[in-house]
Amino acid sequence: MQLATCTWAEVESYLGHSTGIVLPIGSTEQHGPNGLIGTDAICADAIARGIGDATGGLVAPVLPVGMAQHHMGFPGTMTLRPSTLLSVFRDCITSLAQHGFRRFYFVNGHGGNIPVVQSAIAEVYGESGDRGLLCELRNWWLRPPVVALARELYGEHEGIHATASEVSLTQHVFPDYIKRVDMEPAPPAAMFFGDGAAFRRRFPDGRMGSHPGLSRPEHGKRFLDAVVADLAKDYEAFAAS
Ligand code: NI
Repeated sequence: MQLATCTWAEVESYLGHSTGIVLPIGSTEQHGPNGLIGTDAICADAIARGIGDATGGLVAPVLPVGMAQHHMGFPGTMTLRPSTLLSVFRDCITSLAQHGFRRFYFVNGHGGNIPVVQSAIAEVYGESGDRGLLCELRNWWLRPPVVALARELYGEHEGIHATASEVSLTQHVFPDYIKRVDMEPAPPAAMFFGDGAAFRRRFPDGRMGSHPGLSRPEHGKRFLDAVVADLAKDYEAFAAS
């Protein structure tokens, strides 16, 4: 059930039996030579919709722009300052809480969002009094079934950014936008957060240790099915808690 295609009356009726909502959060940033700029938002949105379909949970519209300052050396990237993004998260939670939502389940597609959403959650808890709000953050690419499948399919070539798994997932969701680009595996990389120029100097084509030339849409379906099955169970327990 998608919030965007519900009426207010349907939302009011939903709140009669559940106070849970799934909130996909993404980013709009470069994803290497063959990865779509919208990769993180596309993945989070597809996974959240899958959770909604599997559980009957209500799914909010994806928040498509995140904290991507370190990707600003590449055209097309959009970023919100951490303070702006924190306010966006906080205001989204508090507006839904005003209507009676109490269980906020974030499905995140982008590592740069993690500290910001955690801070927003801390602020909401500080302001929420005793209304019983609970927020949970799930980073889909860190879930054990995803990690296991990425290791099986790509080994060390999964990488850290513009990963083979996330590119596969977008290829499954948008088969008409698969980009064929010749590439070698990127050299192994460690996590790095500099400014946009420093990031581009260190990672000239945008990849961090990945080889998304191995990505396939059929892999993407396996990633999506595995993570939706995992998170649907997790969401159901959370919404009922
Ligand atoms: Ni990504």
